[in-house]
Amino acid sequence: MFTNVLKSVELNFTDLCNLQCSFCPHSFGFKGKNNNVHMTPDTARIVKEQLDEINFSGDIVISGKGEPTLNIYFEELMNIFADPNRKYSIRLISNGKNFSKYEDSVNKADVIVYDVYDTAYDPNGTSKQKVKAAKLKKSIDNKNKNRKSPYIELRIKPDYGELETKTQTKWGSNLSSRGYEDHVTKELDDTTCSIIFERLMIDWNGDYNLCCHDWFDRIVLGNIKTESILEYVEENLTLMSYRTKLVEGNRKDLTVCRNCDKLCPIDNSNYKDMMDMYNACK
Ligand SMILES: C[S@@+](CC[C@H](N)C(=O)[O-])C[C@H]1O[C@@H](n2cnc3c(N)ncnc32)[C@H](O)[C@@H]1O
Ligand code: SF4
Ligand code: SF4
Repeated sequence: MFTNVLKSVELNFTDLCNLQCSFCPHSFGFKGKNNNVHMTPDTARIVKEQLDEINFSGDIVISGKGEPTLNIYFEELMNIFADPNRKYSIRLISNGKNFSKYEDSVNKADVIVYDVYDTAYDPNGTSKQKVKAAKLKKSIDNKNKNRKSPYIELRIKPDYGELETKTQTKWGSNLSSRGYEDHVTKELDDTTCSIIFERLMIDWNGDYNLCCHDWFDRIVLGNIKTESILEYVEENLTLMSYRTKLVEGNRKDLTVCRNCDKLCPIDNSNYKDMMDMYNACK
């Protein structure tokens, strides 16, 4: 039942990053920023097998808490996930600094989300910056025109260096506090959260994390080596208790969620019905 509504599975390949964007926890206290940790091919194979077991046809999102191309096994991991018989799509989110180093592997993704943070490409800047941004956009448009995949989604998000306490940026993105009290930027009433139903977050070592927005407490609800994705999504009791609270709009009762200002409301009754059914069958 719950696996049917799962839209994406995000993987944290590594905590390391080669940038320090001002709006990212890497620049405001993320404790793991120097963690030299890497998802291994063995762990990746387990994830892949378990995704196949549930016939997963959504997105695997290779993103996480660092820059995925810094994983020391990056090429091997891309080979594992890019199985030609896969039912899921691969979405690689990257700052692009290693694209030329790993061109073949990067091109195994179905979609490359290319985040450009360099202010030299500011489309709202000086004419020199505008020209650079327009040239980059044109070169990406040409690549997209000339091949079926990977599709490159270019996101120019200049880092102006002063965004860490704002959610609404000059380029419009609605950033989150990433579950960190000192950086909560918006007052939210008790709200619901759809992310707890629609996304799954798997850490470098196979831990099931509560959510991609929880960078500070890094709550662990299980591990793929002791509980399969199927078992976790359908039966994990702690996950169920989070879902019950969040479907009712009670972020205030949950550590992390209480400090999270991500807007992701549940806008239909499906998840409430699912939880009512689950709780009735207990
Ligand atoms: C943490 S990064 C990891 C992937 C890669 N390093 C990159 O930046 O593309 C994943 C995504 O989170 C976004 N991001 C960074 N800080 C954020 C915040 N405070 N709230 C929401 N999204 C954020 C990034 O812009 C990026 O699109
Ligand atoms: S947004 Fe991405 S590139 Fe920027 S510091 Fe965070 S993890 Fe690194
Ligand atoms: S409320 Fe925030 S931290 Fe909690 S599950 Fe939703 S997005 Fe994640």
